[in-house]
Amino acid sequence: MKLDAVKKVYKRYAPYYDTVFGKILDHGRQEMLKTMSFEKGDKILEVGVGTGISLTNYPTHTSVVGIDISPEMLQKAQERIADQQLGHVTVQVMDAQFMSFPDNSFDQLAIMYVVSVVPNPKKLMDEAKRVCKQNGSIYIVNHFGAQNRVMKFIESKLDKMADKLGFQAAFSLPKFIEENQLEIISKKAVNLLGYWTLLKVQNVKKLEAETSRTNARNKTVN
Ligand SMILES: C[S@@+](CC[C@H](N)C(=O)[O-])C[C@H]1O[C@@H](n2cnc3c(N)ncnc32)[C@H](O)[C@@H]1O
Repeated sequence: MKLDAVKKVYKRYAPYYDTVFGKILDHGRQEMLKTMSFEKGDKILEVGVGTGISLTNYPTHTSVVGIDISPEMLQKAQERIADQQLGHVTVQVMDAQFMSFPDNSFDQLAIMYVVSVVPNPKKLMDEAKRVCKQNGSIYIVNHFGAQNRVMKFIESKLDKMADKLGFQAAFSLPKFIEENQLEIISKKAVNLLGYWTLLKVQNVKKLEAETSRTNARNKTVN
């Protein structure tokens, strides 16, 4: 999906997003929030925060930043922040693939139903790992491509309409984990028929540094 297509779709969705995607995806959001533990002063980044549907769940002893590419979705989040007086939360328009935060800015990241929406999920995850502290937690909930043949067929058809739907249906979990070298701490099926997956990832930055050192050493040896 191109970024312009994403912006167009979510501009269209914004007025009725909560009505259509609120309840149906809520089990995954709630399970993520239950899995997270919040220390006093924790800095949390919610990527693709949308209408801010989860923002009321973060405790006031944390500080929360939400980013999204869609100003129309964020307008709804701003209204929620004002209505609910969420003084510990701010939101801003930002492309998750090119974040403007310094390295190691956040203790935890929450990425709900976004990794199969962005044009380049690898760039999103590179940025997520960069702005998250060493050994911080990155939580992801998403639909990943089904294993059974019938669903695979349906998803391949849905993918032809990805620009209109605003997400990719046939998004491979093993490929996502491998490509991003994710250290998975836990994995749980959520939402209707367990058709979505909640992941807790530990942000092990050393591994990457060690990997590149090892690669460099291997090159010298060869
Ligand atoms: C399916 S909605 C999920 C919204 C919310 N997280 C939820 O739980 O319902 C996907 C969101 O990701 C946002 N998004 C898509 N691409 C993005 C990008 N490159 N950078 C930031 N946000 C993006 C969309 O604008 C939209 O609000």
